[in-house]
Formats: sequence, structure tokens, C-alpha cells
Amino acid sequence: MEITFEVNGQSHNLAGVAPLESLAVILRDRLGLTGTKIGCATGHCGACSVLIDERLVNACLVPAAQLQGHQVTTVEGLETSEGIDNVQQAFVEAGAVQCGFCTAGMEMAAHALLSALSNPTKEQIRSALTGNLCRCTGYQKIVDAVYQAAIGLKGV
Ligand code: FES
Ligand code: FES
Repeated sequence: MEITFEVNGQSHNLAGVAPLESLAVILRDRLGLTGTKIGCATGHCGACSVLIDERLVNACLVPAAQLQGHQVTTVEGLETSEGIDNVQQAFVEAGAVQCGFCTAGMEMAAHALLSALSNPTKEQIRSALTGNLCRCTGYQKIVDAVYQAAIGLKGV
């Protein structure tokens, strides 16, 4: 099948795509956007989290057949003209990244949360990140990073 959709503000027209090919595979293998990771490929780990029309989804569960006309944002799309964005900066400053495999998904989930709730409590942050697994950090620094991003990077 042929699909036309946007990724990070850029339009893509892809031909010869299998209807069930996942968005995660399309991003990585066809578009070279390898910031989106594939861990479980079954919707359980959150490593492939991206936004579709501003809604947080697991890209491994989104088939190509559902992409026509939609707007996808990946971790590459968070970058601003000045470099990494405030959530990414907070992850760096809080030491919330170790192997980094979960990081893109965590940051996309954080963006989705902060779009909906600009001043979340740590409990609300923990709840919003329950679909994103991390095997390295113990989560506390990730929660701290999102909290600090929310309050404007004051004294991480
Ligand atoms: S790779 Fe998609 S949720 Fe794990
Ligand atoms: S930093 Fe390694 S899985 Fe999260």
C-alpha cells in the first residue's frame, strides 16, 4: 500500500508498505529515525513511544494502515533551533540517563504529560510513566527530571 503522513513536520510518501508494518519499523528502517527504540514490540515497554496528533502511542502497535494523513512526532522532533529541549536538558542535568534505551520513550511520555498537565506532582509523573520501563535508573532520577522540567529547570 501507499501512505502519506508527516513525521516531525516533514511529509513522507511511502509506497510498497505492508498494511501491518509497524510505525516503529517504518520510523527506524525506512526513515532512519533510530531515536525511537524497539524493545518488546508488543506494547509493554514504552521504548517506542511517539506522539500521533499529540497523543502518546506505542509505535510498535500502530500499523501502517492507520497512518494516512496523521502527524507523528518522534524524539528527533523535540530538538529546537537551540539544541535539545527543556525535558531532554532536565534528563541530562538530573542524571536520568544510563544506557539510554528507555530515554526517548520516557521523554515522549513526559512531553505528553506536560502538554496535558503543566504542573504535575511526582505521583502524577510516576503514574504517567507507568507504561515506560527502565532497567537502569531506578526511576527516581527520571521522575525528578520530569518534575524539574515542569517547574522550569530550577535547581535540578
Ligand atoms: S517496543 Fe513498543 S512498547 Fe515495547
Ligand atoms: S536508562 Fe537504561 S533502560 Fe532506562
